[in-house]
Amino acid sequence: MTSYVESFSPGEGRRRPRADFHSDAPRLSLNGDWAFRLAPTASGPSFWAPEFDDSGWDRLRVPSHWVLEGHDRPLYTNTAYPFPIDPPHVPVENPTGDYRRHFDWPYSGRAVLRFQGVDSCAKVWLNGTELGHSKGSRLPFEFDVTGLVRPAGNVLAVRVHRWSSGSYLEDQDMWWLPGIFRDVELLGGTVDDLFVHASYVDGLGTLRVDADPPGIVELPELGVRVPTGETVTVPVEPWSAERPRLYKGVLTAAGERIDLAVGFRTVSIVDGRLLVNGAPVLFRGVNRHEHDPDRGRALDPSTMLRDVLLMKRHNINAVRTSHYPPHPEFLRLCDEYGLWVVDECDIETHGFVYAGWEGNPPDEPAWRDALVDRIERMVERDKNHPSVVVWSLGNESGHGAAFGEIESWIRERDPSRPVHYERDRSYRHSDFASVMYPSLEELEAIGRRREPTPEGVEPDSPDDVRRRGLPFLLCEYAHAMGNGPGSLVDYQRILEAHERFCGAFVWEWIDHGLHAPDGGLLHGGDVDHLPNGGRYCLDGLLFADRTPSPGLLEYAKAIEPVEITIADGRVWLRNRYDFADLSHLRLEWTAGDEAGELPTPYVPARHAASVPAPRGDLLTVRAVLAAGTAWAPAGHVVAWGQAPVVPPARAFRPAGAFRGVRFDDGQLVRLGDLDLSGPVLDVWRAPIENDRGQGFRNDVTRAWRAVGLDRMLHRVEEIRTEDGRVVVRGRSGPAGQAIGLRTEMCWEPAGDAGVALTLRVTPEGVWTDTPIGGHAVTLPRLGLRMGLPAGLTRARWFGRGPGESYVDSQAAARVGLFAADIDAMQSHYPWPQENGNHIETRWLELTGDGVPRLRVEGDPWFDFTARRWTSEDLDRATKPAQLVPSDRVWLNVDYGQQGLGSASCGPPLPERYRLPIRPYTFRVRLYA
Ligand code: GAL
Repeated sequence: MTSYVESFSPGEGRRRPRADFHSDAPRLSLNGDWAFRLAPTASGPSFWAPEFDDSGWDRLRVPSHWVLEGHDRPLYTNTAYPFPIDPPHVPVENPTGDYRRHFDWPYSGRAVLRFQGVDSCAKVWLNGTELGHSKGSRLPFEFDVTGLVRPAGNVLAVRVHRWSSGSYLEDQDMWWLPGIFRDVELLGGTVDDLFVHASYVDGLGTLRVDADPPGIVELPELGVRVPTGETVTVPVEPWSAERPRLYKGVLTAAGERIDLAVGFRTVSIVDGRLLVNGAPVLFRGVNRHEHDPDRGRALDPSTMLRDVLLMKRHNINAVRTSHYPPHPEFLRLCDEYGLWVVDECDIETHGFVYAGWEGNPPDEPAWRDALVDRIERMVERDKNHPSVVVWSLGNESGHGAAFGEIESWIRERDPSRPVHYERDRSYRHSDFASVMYPSLEELEAIGRRREPTPEGVEPDSPDDVRRRGLPFLLCEYAHAMGNGPGSLVDYQRILEAHERFCGAFVWEWIDHGLHAPDGGLLHGGDVDHLPNGGRYCLDGLLFADRTPSPGLLEYAKAIEPVEITIADGRVWLRNRYDFADLSHLRLEWTAGDEAGELPTPYVPARHAASVPAPRGDLLTVRAVLAAGTAWAPAGHVVAWGQAPVVPPARAFRPAGAFRGVRFDDGQLVRLGDLDLSGPVLDVWRAPIENDRGQGFRNDVTRAWRAVGLDRMLHRVEEIRTEDGRVVVRGRSGPAGQAIGLRTEMCWEPAGDAGVALTLRVTPEGVWTDTPIGGHAVTLPRLGLRMGLPAGLTRARWFGRGPGESYVDSQAAARVGLFAADIDAMQSHYPWPQENGNHIETRWLELTGDGVPRLRVEGDPWFDFTARRWTSEDLDRATKPAQLVPSDRVWLNVDYGQQGLGSASCGPPLPERYRLPIRPYTFRVRLYA
């Protein structure tokens, strides 16, 4: 009875896959309230008879995942299967949801029942008759119910199994979320399928629409009225992500009118470069999972639109639909708003890595049909979208003969789009070379077509030679887990320097945190199940509630479509668009209190030009939308540039004797009327996810903790007053270790209630990380920490802002005068970690009601963080709610901090963004 659950078969009784389209034929949404019951195994009692009494059942909204609606629980794994690798079998413990729904269908003619997505396997009955079953969670399936459906009193029954043989093909790094999670609908109409072929060459669009049954195609704007199957060529404007020109029209066939939105464009690969409409393109992309903290992958249309608008407003021009075809409405939005799409199939068998890839489905003939079925369903559904420019065969599924068959099937059915598959290093079934998470050096070599021959490929073999000739698509890089990613600008520079690159996709768009009943956010480790992927699902540029993280702002800046630089009295504009000139942008400038506008010169795509720069301090030029677009209002800033701001060299002369300053045991404890504790040497930061690497590699925190940087203790050795200065010598070192940092703090008077401090740090001892194998240790941070009255609630500073900045993530922060409440300066990562730093701060003032202010001046500058808890509190906390304001404001004034990197999945942090163990000198002045 339940053998279909574990059979290799992708389904039975279903209609042939076809395009997703809107027509004027009757359509009934079966979304809404269904009767629902959950059983622990697949073989529950019969419930599909129309007269079955379901009045005692629960109610469940459709679409949804039952595990997010109070039944059972969601599970998260990264690479591992949550059940034994025993293909195609699944455990007896197989939570199974039975659904029932009554409906009327007052229409005659053909009727098709469509499920847009059911996770993971559904068997369906209408009015007691079994229609069939289907697997392939993120793909539609349909049953012809003509003759079976009645005008009134229909009963639809669906049994959904959490696990099935299909689950073996769905081991993506994401939550396992069973249920009918996309729309269910009943469709009238007679048109089976249509295929819009719309290409573009040199000003001319060529259109042919194939349809079954045939009909007439009309695009009024182009004066086109042709029968299906006939080719017509007319002058058109092409479709691109930059200018998503769509021609609306209709196909009339057998009395049914189908909406057409035709975008003319031609995708080709010429001389190892990806071209669209004859021009090279560069994807500035993100990997997008469908995610909502309450609804999982059951996204509503407004959330899809929100994603598209957020992407467009942050200069993103491409999406890889990692790792499955999205809801079809999302692709309609991509057509309309303009995003290049790499449409990826719902295939991932990553967990077979734990079986040494033994039995990997793509390599086993028994799975062939199930794999090809998925590709057919994706291509047939999505083939008419101009936004879809690349088919991706799937993700991280090793290799195997099935990929050859899949590739041939696509070549035959849709030769108009190239195909991508990353994990088979022969790239025989891919039109792109591709890897994930290369270092900057590796990427540079790839750009020069000089990458090392992949393992398993014979050097100079035909595969090796062919691969070097292919365009390169960086399908994943810059792991946005926690605070980061760093080096976005470094990567972008390389991606734009080599013709081989057609673009890159940051991993990933949004954190997959789920709202917990207590208002917090769940990650995989919060669910009591093994294996689980812990926090690895929290790695997006958006927080789970779709608030942009600092990483998204940095990405928007790194990929801005115009590079604006100011040098030699001119404003230089490098147009990074692939098609558009800059005529849709206005150039606004500010300098101090002055402001004005510059003429926008004519700059064709991928060209540069300059105009004379206005004079003035802090000259900033912004390129803003001259007119509103579908995705942002007029005035929206798409790019900006700033004249280099050189910090003033301010000579400091000690001013006589200390006034209004008190030291106690070598510590500054009072400045004017301000009580403070510290400053003391501080080398610790609450590790960010990237500091931990991937656990098994690049975990610098192990070295930091092994040598004890998280538990430094301080000793004052000598306090001396000489020449009107107070010199405090001491030593800081970790418990149990002989290594240490000798410190000298030299205090000099700086006017009334002012001091100048010179900190000299000299390492002592052998600073290798002996406990874990002698690696060199670097410092998380180097600077001064002080405790200040809690009443200091506001910060004003001159330096980089308004957002946070780190040495390898600072492009989005301009130089200027900024002010913010300290509480608003924290980025609340769902797993607490270092955040909120500001590099290149020239001066900082902390103020509050009824408390004396503190002013810090740099020589020339410093990093700062200010918060109500210490780095140790931040380090200890595992949830934001555990961060409770202390009775102090903790201010760090630092020489520097280690960069961010993206080692949580990727290369180690480049050396230049680290603080090596060496002597340092750092100067600041403090005033009350
Ligand atoms: C990739 C994978 C993604 C995700 C990422 C790390 O290997 O394709 O699905 O797991 O690593 O977050």
